[in-house]
Amino acid sequence: MASSLTVANIEAGYGAVRILHDVSLQVGEGETVALLGTNGNGKSTLMKSIMGMVRPSAGSIRAEIDGTAHELVGRSTEEIVDLGIGFVPEGRRLFPKLSVEENLLLGAYRRAARADIAANLAYAFEAFPVLAGRRRQLAGSMSGGEQQMLAIARALMSSPRILLVDEPSVGLAPILVSRVIAKIRELKEQRHLTVLMAEQNFNQATKIADRGYIIVHGKIEFEGRSTKELRENELVKKYYLGV
Ligand SMILES: Nc1ncnc2c1ncn2[C@@H]1O[C@H](COP(=O)(O)OP(=O)(O)O)[C@@H](O)[C@H]1O
Ligand SMILES: [Mg+2]
Repeated sequence: MASSLTVANIEAGYGAVRILHDVSLQVGEGETVALLGTNGNGKSTLMKSIMGMVRPSAGSIRAEIDGTAHELVGRSTEEIVDLGIGFVPEGRRLFPKLSVEENLLLGAYRRAARADIAANLAYAFEAFPVLAGRRRQLAGSMSGGEQQMLAIARALMSSPRILLVDEPSVGLAPILVSRVIAKIRELKEQRHLTVLMAEQNFNQATKIADRGYIIVHGKIEFEGRSTKELRENELVKKYYLGV
């Protein structure tokens, strides 16, 4: 059944500082949509608004999960995860002093996923063999790439239908970025996910995105209906492709 996300006319910020201005975007069933923007333009603020970590002062965020529609604005992060929205935060946010397995189990608090803990754990170790060999290792002692894989695997422990991934490439060597991006596509296909991915790495993000939006100073400046349209956009040429 269909799962999709519709952000409509969101205004949000921190205290009196308004960061997002009339932001609207849509992620359709089974799509991978890229939210592209350089540092400080509001990508994470939008991700946090969707996850209930930042409260929008106006607008609506509707998620359809397996055919049922829900308004997300006003709900807690726990409720939003419970509905079936998984989040891989920027900078991984793992528990460094807990083991790989303990970090994964902490991702499994969604009510609907509790019966699937064993199956999801088995899936995580199958999808990420590097984690299987390190299940007792402390998360903080792993490399950046391994930690990113763990953060993604943790989000999948809640059996999400919609997955938000905030800058998976950040701080990783180019070879690892390619691996992480390819993994997101593979998981999306295997788990039938609908994906919104914030990235400033244009070339990597457009490898797996169906289409995308460009955010500049908290406003959606361009909506590309295909990666070709994005590549040909003047903002992209100027800021991302060095043309
Ligand atoms: N917790 C916060 N308190 C105040 N301002 C913040 C906070 N987090 C981010 N900002 C500001 O919001 C703007 C957008 O940041 P962010 O959403 O993190 O952008 P991006 O993810 O695109 O790098 C920046 O000007 C940043 O300084
Ligand atoms: Mg960010």
